[in-house]
Amino acid sequence: MGHLTNTDEEPLATARRKQPQSEESETWMDSIPRIQAGLPTAPDSQADLPAPDREVRGFSSLGLAAALRAVRLYSVERAAPRAAAKLVGMSPGPHHVSVMPREVLEYLAPEAGQIVVEATVGGGGHARLIAERLGPTGRLIGLDQDPAMLELARPVLDCLPVTLVHANFDQLRHVLDAQRVSAADAVLADLGFSSDQLADPERGLSFQQPGPLDMRLDPTQGEPASALLHRLNERELANLIYLYGEERLSRRIARRVIEVRRTSRIETTEQLAELVRGCVPRSRGHAIDPATRTFQALRIAVNDELGALERLLTALPCCVKPGGRAVIISFHSLEDRRVKQAFRDKQTWGALTRKPIQASEEEVRNNPRARSAKLRAAIRLPSREGA
Ligand SMILES: C[S@@+](CC[C@H](N)C(=O)[O-])C[C@H]1O[C@@H](n2cnc3c(N)ncnc32)[C@H](O)[C@@H]1O
Repeated sequence: MGHLTNTDEEPLATARRKQPQSEESETWMDSIPRIQAGLPTAPDSQADLPAPDREVRGFSSLGLAAALRAVRLYSVERAAPRAAAKLVGMSPGPHHVSVMPREVLEYLAPEAGQIVVEATVGGGGHARLIAERLGPTGRLIGLDQDPAMLELARPVLDCLPVTLVHANFDQLRHVLDAQRVSAADAVLADLGFSSDQLADPERGLSFQQPGPLDMRLDPTQGEPASALLHRLNERELANLIYLYGEERLSRRIARRVIEVRRTSRIETTEQLAELVRGCVPRSRGHAIDPATRTFQALRIAVNDELGALERLLTALPCCVKPGGRAVIISFHSLEDRRVKQAFRDKQTWGALTRKPIQASEEEVRNNPRARSAKLRAAIRLPSREGA
């Protein structure tokens, strides 16, 4: 990463976790510390689980690892466009198709002169649409925890008023401070990973491609999935796969992982996918691969996706101006549930979407990855005097 300028080497404290606000959130958020402590969380009968999502998008990890993580901010002003394609091993230019672009613009309502944050720049699709509306006096601050994505987005955003920052969005308040911005007019977070990351076998996100079992969206820090798989004990593993993957057969999979671990290391996506397929029968009439939920669970754990989302939701009220907007697109129920609860805080947010907005049939036809996307939006209410 020699071409990147490290502008802030100071580790930033990350341990901010909001307490659950309702019984609904307590179900899973409360379980995370129990996983970390190695205590049981999965009930003996797993029959009360909600129907598992059919989609494998999202984030996450064991919150403690991320809470202790130091985040470095990089300016990518001098990033070389060609290096981006090389980093993800694809032809130049992003391949990710941004979801619900029309709806994002409608709910974010960017205007000339505003400061807008795209907390998940990815290939820069949404960022470009937004930045084009900000005019020369406005500015888009784009974050991504994956330096390769920022480099990929760089040429897409050329000549637009954009500042790109390598940071986890759970550091948004610190990023705004470093940019001397007291609060943004609007913040977008399009959770999960991009098609470009999924398509790169070296990232280990896809069970359909052979590659190292890594799964880190920020390859500069944290623990690859293979290491996590070898560190956790059987109960921790079963709980993780159950909670984050909503996989009913989590105990069976965890048992098998422990058996295999005794004689060999599970280091590749193929090994894990085959192991899971051997434990979970393919349900009749369902196209979903049996490895889907276990891969989702590990990815969520490796990237502390739910922890990062929780910290972002906690920080958002002090990052968005009164009257400003927050738009969050999530891809699985664990994330959407939490966003819904956060925007229900009537002291802080005026929800713009009572129910989540979903992609049109036409969009899903053209971009199947949009089918599980749920968009929620809210306006930041003015703080009450004396409250
Ligand atoms: C679905 S893609 C975003 C696509 C983008 N909105 C577009 O239009 O091209 C999600 C991106 O968010 C990034 N990301 C995921 N979790 C993040 C986090 N906690 N902090 C910062 N970036 C994150 C991923 O690396 C990925 O590039």
